[in-house]
Amino acid sequence: MVNYKVELHTGNILHAGTYNSIYIQLSGTKGESEWTYIKETACQDSVIEHQVACPSSLGLLEFVAIETKPYALLAYINDDWFCSKVVVTTPEGSTRHFPCYNWLSGSERLVYREASGKLIFNDTCPRALKEREEELKIRHQAYQWSIYADGLPNIIKAGSVSDLPDEVRFSFTKDSEFKFTFLNAMVELNLQGLSTNKEQWKNLEELSHIFNCRKTKVYEYIEKNWKKDEFFGYQFLNGINPMMINCCTKLPDNFPVTEDMVKASLSEKSLEEEMQDGNIFLVDYKRLQGIPANVINGKKHYLAAPLCLLYMTPEEKLMPIAIQLKQEPSEENPIFLPTDSEYDWLLAKTFVRNADFSEHELNSHLLRTHLLAEVFAVSTLRNLPMVHPIYKLLISHFRYTLQINTMARESLISKTGAITLNASVGGPGMLEFLKKAVAELTYSSLCIPEDITARGMDDIPNFYYRDDGLKLWDILHRFVHSVIGRYYTSDSDVQKDGELQNWIKDIFFNGFLSNASTGIPNSFSLVTELVKFLTMVIFTASVQHAAVNNGQFDFGGWMPNFPTALQLPPPTTKGQCTEKTMLQTFPDINTTAKGIATVYLLSKPSSDIVLLGDYKEEHFFEKLPIQKIKDFKQELEVFSAEIKVRNQRLELPYTYLEPQNIETSVAL
Ligand code: FE2
Repeated sequence: MVNYKVELHTGNILHAGTYNSIYIQLSGTKGESEWTYIKETACQDSVIEHQVACPSSLGLLEFVAIETKPYALLAYINDDWFCSKVVVTTPEGSTRHFPCYNWLSGSERLVYREASGKLIFNDTCPRALKEREEELKIRHQAYQWSIYADGLPNIIKAGSVSDLPDEVRFSFTKDSEFKFTFLNAMVELNLQGLSTNKEQWKNLEELSHIFNCRKTKVYEYIEKNWKKDEFFGYQFLNGINPMMINCCTKLPDNFPVTEDMVKASLSEKSLEEEMQDGNIFLVDYKRLQGIPANVINGKKHYLAAPLCLLYMTPEEKLMPIAIQLKQEPSEENPIFLPTDSEYDWLLAKTFVRNADFSEHELNSHLLRTHLLAEVFAVSTLRNLPMVHPIYKLLISHFRYTLQINTMARESLISKTGAITLNASVGGPGMLEFLKKAVAELTYSSLCIPEDITARGMDDIPNFYYRDDGLKLWDILHRFVHSVIGRYYTSDSDVQKDGELQNWIKDIFFNGFLSNASTGIPNSFSLVTELVKFLTMVIFTASVQHAAVNNGQFDFGGWMPNFPTALQLPPPTTKGQCTEKTMLQTFPDINTTAKGIATVYLLSKPSSDIVLLGDYKEEHFFEKLPIQKIKDFKQELEVFSAEIKVRNQRLELPYTYLEPQNIETSVAL
């Protein structure tokens, strides 16, 4: 007889343990063990050790099958068990790891593969191929595509969170915290009395007095500085939507800014010369053109589609120098200037900030991080078995994404959702705007090195989103390359990996609606193509999401800086606007309160956050990927220290891309 020492690891999440009886069977190249009953009870965050005796060696151990059944005395209780991994020490002295990370519900027999990453064409034994197929068959049932709306990426089929498989749901910790927070965001912010108050703001002191809880340092800075042109310009680089600004070498035909208009804002050179020198920048919200604005509190609200011209001064301050609120130039669409009256100029900037809210929440945040991460997650779950190295690499980057998106569809963008009801871009215009954003989405805009260059933003000073983002892209790219190169040793490996090809086809079809003009590939031929795409996937789910998500309360908490809705139309003449006009333009008190509670909730990390580089689930056990993960983490730590030093000299530190603030997945 020979003995196999088996360790069964129960995960460290609430209710992971079970009273169910556990049975296990080991399989190797020379045979299978008997089904063995595990006497011990599995408790949360514990390891059960057990011996499995066999008449002779099983050869190279490849599979572990596990079954659970309700315990005889407690047959009326079927108690789910979260098994994280099984570790087997063979009689020959080697250790074999079997990652599981599954809830076993007592009704099925599950088979887990030994942890070495394997591509399908290297999996030669018939049972291995059969297990791959079986696993994907089960996942195809559990994770199905569904159409959310025509022209938008497809989503996971789940009417509500309870329809999602347990493996992709929040831990009980996050679940209870998030529910608590959502219901009580208004209470935490001491806003509960305001949710039905449909009055307008009488003055901004009142606003400051009422919204006085949980202010962050950045919030306080913004409350003091929101009116300043310098801060207005700064936000296009290092606020929560650094995605809109482009270098401008030629004015658009529909934005007839003249030399005279901007003379007072420029130093010594002409506008034309400054454009040639790369010092003029444009932010154009043309996607908002024609989008119908919402009705809030029974009143029609307004959306502008502004164009804003900015100038990088010799003192390296990015200053707005001209704003036109609608796309079509006309006499009723004046070009506002910093030399106009205080409130004319401030109101013009406020319409730009509201347009930025629409672009930020729906395009930069929802579409370009949340919805795309969901597409990548669903395709991974449907097409790649656990033993596939890309599954191992990616799965942690989809933690909680399906649940947070399902919740967002229920509570933010549903008919009664917070954005639907409280934003100018909410209501009927929301889907129309999203469809435009999808139609204009490109692969290269998701890859920060290409995006920055395409926008002509390589050289502008003080662009910390760019500096930190490019560095993180580089770190990620090298990490992905080193891990993936271990498995794909030639381009032909990429070409003959049918599972990988199905994965990218599913993304192309369901995520990008087979639109070849996006530049998204529908197959891979080269290792380099694959590495770049995987880098983009991880970057989108972690770094990019952190850049557009984490500062929502910082930058949006002080409503005048980031109003969700505006209730007077864009002005058609100059010289009419007063402080009263501003206050009448801002959203009502209840709309303001709900907007603030929403950005507060969406910026609040949970206590079970997993940071970029922390691969808490161990899917890799081979030496090389484990070493590369360590190196990756170390590089992130070094970079974190560099950012901290840089930030010491900044009036407003840019912290969103400090690796210690980057969650590994879209989970919030
Ligand atoms: Fe988010």
